[in-house]
Amino acid sequence: MSKDFASHCERNKQPILDQLKVYFASSRHVLEIGSGTGQHAVFFAEKLPHLVWHTSDRIENHASVKAWISESKLDNIVLPLEFTIGRDPWPAIQVDGVFTANTTHIMQPAEAKLMMELVAANLPRDGVFCQYGPMNMDGKYTSKSNQDFDQTLKNKGYGGIRSVEELVSWGQGLQLVEKIPMPTNNFLLVWKAF
Ligand SMILES: C[S@@+](CC[C@H](N)C(=O)[O-])C[C@H]1O[C@@H](n2cnc3c(N)ncnc32)[C@H](O)[C@@H]1O
Repeated sequence: MSKDFASHCERNKQPILDQLKVYFASSRHVLEIGSGTGQHAVFFAEKLPHLVWHTSDRIENHASVKAWISESKLDNIVLPLEFTIGRDPWPAIQVDGVFTANTTHIMQPAEAKLMMELVAANLPRDGVFCQYGPMNMDGKYTSKSNQDFDQTLKNKGYGGIRSVEELVSWGQGLQLVEKIPMPTNNFLLVWKAF
């Protein structure tokens, strides 16, 4: 098993953690959608020892996530579930928090819509969903670099950057409680289930 490495995770993990400490303060079981390399998962699990971090992704990414978990020796992180939105059912675990980073713009619009619906349907009342990545505001790009990035994404067949307004329209049952500007033109959206 080999650990993959993403440099952006090293850059953004501390600013994201600073927010997760606030918004996951009362959470006990958090599902991460699209764990990628597994770097975020071990960092957040180590720094948030009051909760259990459940990783997930498509099977191709599991070897790296498992390698990061194995090396971490942490006992509050769970081996990856196979979970691709649009293909797999919601995992059969009880969670009161959901985290996802840099997945919404990778997914096709229908998958991003389904993610909002599934999170709303499966979080208990007052459950928290923290969603990190580039987002459009008022239907507009927040920077020229995000506009260029969106074109690159679409050229590669990815869904592209979603606007906060369409995420709100899709997330029936979720209330958007915070839109936190993050470094390099990203946002952390904090949703609460009602
Ligand atoms: C750009 S990577 C981000 C990975 C990691 N969260 C990070 O911040 O580095 C996008 C991730 O989304 C996952 N992904 C793409 N489509 C997905 C879907 N429909 N359901 C769940 N995960 C998906 C990919 O497998 C990949 O791990």
